[in-house]
Formats: sequence, structure tokens, C-alpha cells
Amino acid sequence: MKSSDIAVYEPLDVFNSIERFKKEYGRCECAMLDPWYNKGFGGVRDDYYEYITSILEKLGEVADHIYFWGFPEIVARFIDRIPASHKYNAWLTWYYKNNPSVIRGWRSAQMTCLHMSKPGAKMYPEHFLNEAQLAKQAEGKLRYMPGPPSVIESALIIGFVGKREQTGHPSQKPEAVYKPLIEMVTKPGGLVFDPMCGSGTTGAVCRTLGRRAVLSDMNPEYLAMVHKRLNGPEQQDVPADVGDVQQALALP
Ligand SMILES: C[S@@+](CC[C@H](N)C(=O)[O-])C[C@H]1O[C@@H](n2cnc3c(N)ncnc32)[C@H](O)[C@@H]1O
Repeated sequence: MKSSDIAVYEPLDVFNSIERFKKEYGRCECAMLDPWYNKGFGGVRDDYYEYITSILEKLGEVADHIYFWGFPEIVARFIDRIPASHKYNAWLTWYYKNNPSVIRGWRSAQMTCLHMSKPGAKMYPEHFLNEAQLAKQAEGKLRYMPGPPSVIESALIIGFVGKREQTGHPSQKPEAVYKPLIEMVTKPGGLVFDPMCGSGTTGAVCRTLGRRAVLSDMNPEYLAMVHKRLNGPEQQDVPADVGDVQQALALP
């Protein structure tokens, strides 16, 4: 694998891809876990909490850092289910203003990402320094290392928003949201594993950043989107259907 290589497995269940990844690579700096949300697309599992906990435990065997995505009320229950190999690191929020609302009351505008890390796992807040801060650092005058904010604002990919990135996957995350997550825990050439990769946002970001990635998903249609996204022309021309996005994010 070259430093910027992206590998895409054939359709595999998450547990099988983790086993395969473990045999082939042993470990990685970062695992991205963005499963279905136990509502909307993907349906509801009675054993959702046990199921996700066992995925997190398996990922804990291979990844220094794990990012786990979901809605806040669901992710909150995992604060107490972090694998023994890892510790709570941060509660990250993706904030989007452009969610269409058809109900009275609060309009859903956020998703949560729980960042868990092995004790001592490296982080690179220096990747976020601006030019003035870099200059100060070079002069030895940077008094503290400022980190990026834990709330990341980026529009929901919907309708004509984010058209350049759109693949047609019903729950595609914006590249702008994954970019800081991956930059925080990897250097160029670092390895990221995404066993439920959907449309391949992790791969697209790793390619841009010069990180390596291993992507997997059980759905062959989504993997076709990944191949098109990573190998096809930069400009994708498939607008996501608003209804699909609403269903995927379990919006009314
Ligand atoms: C929320 S989507 C991921 C979206 C992705 N982060 C993106 O930006 O496109 C969840 C993905 O998990 C996949 N998935 C669900 N169950 C799976 C399983 N048992 N094994 C592997 N993948 C699975 C689905 O096919 C879906 O693409």
C-alpha cells in the first residue's frame, strides 16, 4: 500500500471486515464508525446497544482512536460502554442549519461523534495552526497549542447543497466534517479504517489529505458509489433525494 492508497473490500459484514483488517494490517491510527442510527434507514434493532458495543470492542483491538457517530440521545448511552482498551476523549458535534423542518418544536440540527482513544494515543492539534501561529511556533513564542473547536459546522448534503460531493447515498457525511477528525489523529501516510463506509467519505478525505484508508460496507450498491467516487471524475452529478435524506436521518 502506498502512502496515499485507498483499499476497498468487497461487500463484507462489519465483523468480518474487522477480522480481515486485523489480519492484513494489524492496527491503524483511526477507525471511523458511522452505523445506521436505529431509526429511519437500516431499521431498528432490539439489541442495538449490545451490537454497537461489540463492534466498538472489536475496533478497540485495532484502532488507536475510534470516532463513533450517531444522534446525541443514542451516543449518550455509549459514554458508559467505551471499550476497556480506550478512554473517553471528546464529544464532538456536527452542526447543520439547513435541515428542513416539518414539525412543531425543535428542529434537529446536530449529530454527535464520540471520540475514544487508547491511553497515550497521539493527536496532532498542530495540524490546525494558522500561518501566524506557525510563525510564532517557529520562533518558540507559541505559548499554548490551540485546538480546533469540538463543534463543526457544515451544511447537510441535501438538494443542491454539497452537489459536488453527492453520491446518492442516503446518509452521506460532508467531507468538511470528517477532515478535522482525521487530521487530528493522523499524520500524512497514516491509516484509517472505516468498516461501515457508506459512500466512502472517509476515503475521499484520506485521498485529499494523503492518508491511507481501508473501506468496507456490506451493501454492494454503496460500494459501487465508493468506487465511482474514488475512481470517477471529480464532479458527481447525482442529487440526493430530500425524502431519502430525511428518512436516513430519521427526520419527520
Ligand atoms: C450511516 S451509513 C454510513 C455513511 C458514511 N459515513 C458516508 O459518509 O457515506 C451506515 C452504513 O453502514 C452500512 N452497514 C450497515 N450494517 C452493516 C454491517 N452489518 N456490516 C457492514 N456495513 C453495514 C450500511 O450499508 C451504510 O452504508
